[in-house]
Amino acid sequence: MQYATEENLTDVAVQRWGAVDSPRFRQIMQSLINHLHAFVREVEPTQEEYLCAADWLARAGQISNDKRQEFILAMDVLGISMLVDSINHRLPSAATPSTVLGPFHIDASPEMELGANMAVGVKGDACYMTGTIRDLDGAPIEGAELDIWQADTEGMYESQIGSDEPFLRAIFHTGPDGKYLIQTIVPSEYPIPMDGPVGEMMRQTDINIYRPPHIHFHISAPGYHPLVTHIFKKGGRYLDCDVVYAVKDRLITEFKPMPPGKTPSGEVASKPFYVVNYDFVLSKKKS
Ligand code: BEZ
Ligand code: FE
Repeated sequence: MQYATEENLTDVAVQRWGAVDSPRFRQIMQSLINHLHAFVREVEPTQEEYLCAADWLARAGQISNDKRQEFILAMDVLGISMLVDSINHRLPSAATPSTVLGPFHIDASPEMELGANMAVGVKGDACYMTGTIRDLDGAPIEGAELDIWQADTEGMYESQIGSDEPFLRAIFHTGPDGKYLIQTIVPSEYPIPMDGPVGEMMRQTDINIYRPPHIHFHISAPGYHPLVTHIFKKGGRYLDCDVVYAVKDRLITEFKPMPPGKTPSGEVASKPFYVVNYDFVLSKKKS
């Protein structure tokens, strides 16, 4: 009988976790043990540091609920969410790049007509977004669904303000020409939630805690890979240091200021407004 020692403990544990039927689960657990043991051997945590880590994990779990996922936020700020996203979305180069979903998407947003305003009564500069959803050959995709959500000018999402009504989110469908048109407000930069264990960790650093101004999109159409992405405002703050590493050059676009007058939806605006033109390109699923 060989008992575990400091020297052989990693090998003994990896061997024990070989007793798993599923090859994938076995691979994951044995790799996890190898990497965690290597981390502990390198860092050599004190007992106090070990208990501090256990307490941090417990509190991250306690603060999480159906509207808040502190562990995902932790993975966001460590760059893990974007790494997983990149690995799982190695798309053809002409397809619109994906980026993180983030914690603020809410299912079953209200369906709106093309051109409708998803920010009725919300403070902010009016913004019209328009473009075409295309395939890799440039052909327009009819009936593509755009599920859109964003924060208000204070950086708050619906789940954070606790609204009973849908707030700054909607679903639109493209017409036969693949075009979409939505009215909303210009997005603002905002900090990640800082009132939990992740905020506690970030406050011990000088790392930027803001996300640059963006609007979220989940675009889907039958036969195509769904696309989860953002549109970032060109010239917005924090583009070069996004706290969750989600910015990609091709997702940055101009929010063009326009004088009062006729808007893309045909109304006449008495105040200046902004227009964004952006085409999304989806890749076909293999049949
Ligand atoms: C967001 O864009 O909504 C977001 C993404 C990751 C962490 C926090 C917020
Ligand atoms: Fe966001």
